[in-house]
Amino acid sequence: MKIAFSKPEAPASGAYVVGILEDRKLTPAAAALDKKTGGVVTRAMATTRFKGKKDEFLDVVAPKGVPFGRIVLAGLGKIDKLDAKGAEALGGSLVAHLNKTGETQATVSVEQIAEGAIGPSVMAAHMALGAKLRAYRFDKYKTREKDDAKPSLKSLNLLVTDVASARKIHGPLDRVADAVTFARDLVSEPPNVLYPESLAERCKRLTAFGVKVEIFDEKQLEKMGAGALLGVGQGSARPSRMVILQYQGAPKAKDKRPVAFVGKGVTFDTGGISIKPSAGMEDMKWDMAGSAAVIGAIEALAARHAKVNAIGAVGLVENMPGHNAQRPSDIVRSLSGKTIEVLNTDAEGRLVLADVLWYVQDRFKPKAMFDLATLTGAVIVALGHEYAGIMGNDAALAEKLTAAGEATGEKVWRLPLGEAYDRDIDSPAADVKNIAAGRGAGSIIGGQFLARFVNDVPWVHIDIAGVAWSGKDTATCPKGATAFGVRLLDRLVADNYEEA
Ligand code: BES
Ligand code: MN
Ligand code: ZN
Repeated sequence: MKIAFSKPEAPASGAYVVGILEDRKLTPAAAALDKKTGGVVTRAMATTRFKGKKDEFLDVVAPKGVPFGRIVLAGLGKIDKLDAKGAEALGGSLVAHLNKTGETQATVSVEQIAEGAIGPSVMAAHMALGAKLRAYRFDKYKTREKDDAKPSLKSLNLLVTDVASARKIHGPLDRVADAVTFARDLVSEPPNVLYPESLAERCKRLTAFGVKVEIFDEKQLEKMGAGALLGVGQGSARPSRMVILQYQGAPKAKDKRPVAFVGKGVTFDTGGISIKPSAGMEDMKWDMAGSAAVIGAIEALAARHAKVNAIGAVGLVENMPGHNAQRPSDIVRSLSGKTIEVLNTDAEGRLVLADVLWYVQDRFKPKAMFDLATLTGAVIVALGHEYAGIMGNDAALAEKLTAAGEATGEKVWRLPLGEAYDRDIDSPAADVKNIAAGRGAGSIIGGQFLARFVNDVPWVHIDIAGVAWSGKDTATCPKGATAFGVRLLDRLVADNYEEA
């Protein structure tokens, strides 16, 4: 789908989309159209239940005398409540609506409304972002889809007085949307196509944005002593990898220390010898969503030239049973030197992260570190699919992330860590064990385990098991891979770590 901005002028074909405020109040463009068509807009509303509420749309066949074929009334709701996030939702819902109608081409009037929470340029730019995010499709393996089963909309034109300003605001947002698209593609790929080596290869795309991409193979990981990560991958025919992404957007800053993002990249999680039940196991192809979010976030920062130094680090493994797989009761030596008793091979994400977290804090001395991981089913029990669970050692950092979550709609909610939980993972045989005895506080136990591998760097763990994949369409994301984290981290950096 093509998205463009141009000066206000009713279109010569396709659909003309005009806004209606709550309680059927016409925007100026809607009023002008109503006048021009002898009252078609007001009559259409009067004969239906359309009220101009948020996410309400009404299609009207255009009458004789106008060149375009269709009028779409778009409900804007309470205009003083329509902020940037609302504009994204509106753009997304509009695209979903148009795609169902068979319309190929739409022109949207975006105007200055006196009580509006945002101006028309911001509104148009964010509508365009929402439109692109919702138009996402992963259809590369569908070879027989009929044209009329595909989404119909080919172009969306946003009419705005200050075209230059809308384009300027849209530029960086569109770079972020591209990064979200890339991350969603990674998460959507099947695990026979996307495995540690091929995922590492795909990271090379970021070199085009000036990112340094380092790939460590098993020999190098062994030499470093990454025994926890390697232990998870040893049952797989696919060799493990670790990838480090370095983006230097503020090389002359006084404080050059980077912000670091670490991602769990289990390209398929069978559970290993502690094997999972078969029902729903296919979901474990997206057990690398944390790594995709990290890769996408670094792309977003680099592509929009964010003034920040940032590190992305991902641990890539496939967790398989097999003659060489690790066993429950194995003891592995992690990169930190700490030994880990592996009591459940399905608690593998924390083993991978233990080595990557340690490596990153040791090598880069980041000023803050965040990890993203589809770590526990328990976080879905606690928070469902609305919020990611966060834990960490720094309340202020958690606050910053929470604010970025509210701003982008990628919401997070904090859970506690603490000494009593920490005692639950003391092992009689090694320094730490990878699960606790009881079944309680599963997500916290996961976070508590990771805490043993971060020392005193300010750090937040983000458990995205409930939000990485969506079972239903939302305004800005069709069902499937969400790329949760890309926009969250991008916004976190924009609001807290970028130089003026
Ligand atoms: N990848 C899973 C967690 C998961 C579950 C992600 C559902 C997305 C949806 C993780 O590796 C796992 O298996 N965790 C175990 C931990 C347990 C063995 C302590 C779990 O949640 O059951
Ligand atoms: Mn697992
Ligand atoms: Zn897993």
